[in-house]
Amino acid sequence: MLHESHLAYFRKLLGDAFVLTGANDLEAYGRDWTRIHTPKPAAVVLPASTADVAALVKYCAAHQLAIVPSGGRTGLAAGAVAANGEIVLSLNRLNQIEDVDAVGMTMRVQAGVTTQQAQEAAKEVGLFFPLDLAAKGSCHIGGNIATNAGGVKFIRFGGMREQVLGLEVVLPSGEILDLNTGLRKNNTGYDLRQLFIGSEGTLGIVTKATIRLTPPPRNMQVSVMAVRKFADIPAILGVCNRAGVQLTAFEFFTREAHEIVLQHAMGARSPFAEISPYYVLLEVEEGPSGQQVMEPLLEQIFTEDLITDAVIAQSSAQAKELWGLRENITESIAKHGHVRKNDISLAINQLTDFIADLEPIVQSAPKDMQLVIFGHLGDGNLHINYVGPKSQDFAAFQARAREVELQVFALLGRYKGSISAEHGIGLLKTKDLHFSRSDAEIALMRQIKSLLDPKGLLNPGKIFPG
Ligand code: FAD
Ligand code: MLT
Ligand code: ZN
Repeated sequence: MLHESHLAYFRKLLGDAFVLTGANDLEAYGRDWTRIHTPKPAAVVLPASTADVAALVKYCAAHQLAIVPSGGRTGLAAGAVAANGEIVLSLNRLNQIEDVDAVGMTMRVQAGVTTQQAQEAAKEVGLFFPLDLAAKGSCHIGGNIATNAGGVKFIRFGGMREQVLGLEVVLPSGEILDLNTGLRKNNTGYDLRQLFIGSEGTLGIVTKATIRLTPPPRNMQVSVMAVRKFADIPAILGVCNRAGVQLTAFEFFTREAHEIVLQHAMGARSPFAEISPYYVLLEVEEGPSGQQVMEPLLEQIFTEDLITDAVIAQSSAQAKELWGLRENITESIAKHGHVRKNDISLAINQLTDFIADLEPIVQSAPKDMQLVIFGHLGDGNLHINYVGPKSQDFAAFQARAREVELQVFALLGRYKGSISAEHGIGLLKTKDLHFSRSDAEIALMRQIKSLLDPKGLLNPGKIFPG
């Protein structure tokens, strides 16, 4: 329970301006993008340094105060939600890029640097930071690490885990750990850094990271293809793989997703005269010495009768426009209606059978509920969104969507798929962890949690079923 004396300590440490207790701030910092739970934090604290974070965590541990680490609050699993009187510890002020090493191709950043800031700083020295997602302007590197974010370039560069060389973490005791500093090779016992990546703020607070940069990809070409049946999409991926081209993205969306974007995203236009059941967005790197790869690739895909139409971006503006058809889906769906989101993954060779088995569930869903599907198909990652009219009561919609979702998860369990490919478990999916993890795995994860956080004060209620 938060007392005036606790607030006095926070104010003395950080200054009055960086301890927030006003209703608007509590609401804004108490929620993430999901907006399903009612935010109810006791206070928001905004430290400016690792030392501040350590002091706050130590104080909270001594006074039994629960903390919710908070990044850009773009999370889609309610991981940064504070709904039970916790202290929100925001990393907003740790927003400095400390060092860019263009030779070693690394960058040391504070946790509150946004993904876009990191991308831009890499570009300034002629390099590339490959994590990319539509929330890049708001989400933090610390949040990307805590969620092990995937994004639209996963197929080429992997997710956030692959980009982290070094990590500074404040443990639930307040102790500061400097893990791996940024070494590329280091086989000295357990790689503790990996434990914190994807731990959703339950094991420690990330305060700094050394991230990996890459040489810039050669001129990337973008195309959108119209596809008549789902089974043709993995077949298209097969053609790309056999052609030996360097894919940088292989994304897909359905007619429903496309129509919602055309309705809600400003300036969105369909590149085709006719609407198609499925679309694939393909991005490839040009071959060595400027050799064109997209056109011959599309010719091959046409020859195999896997697409009905295709368009290749002729300029960077057109490439951006085509990417908009995919990247604007999330925001457009949010404007369109109430939404419940799934973020599942399967082995790529099982996608077609899964989609066929999903069809009866789609057909038996309530008539006013649309199942809108899109995602990172090249990674086996599908986003299924249950979308209903905003005129419905929100809680009633969620309950009805949950019934359909449970059928989808049961089906997914038969395929040994994952209920979360990239967004995490947070507060939203704790009851569903068992669909993807065995009792033994969950027990081991709980042991790790209680070893590091014996009082259960760091991001309580997240990941584990209560
Ligand atoms: P938050 O939402 O603030 O927090 C997420 C979790 O991390 C919480 O559990 C929080 O407690 C913890 N956390 C935050 N900062 C720290 C820290 N410094 N130390 C310890 N724990 C911390 N995700 C993808 O993976 N791929 C996508 O393609 C993708 N696209 C998106 C598109 C849109 C339009 C939106 C709104 C979201 C998208 N997301 C995507 C989800 C989201 O952007 C990612 O999960 C992102 O990594 C969250 O970062 P954040 O800083 O906003 O974290
Ligand atoms: C995406 O791929 O666009 C994101 O993961 C966001 C979402 O699932 O809506
Ligand atoms: Zn995604």
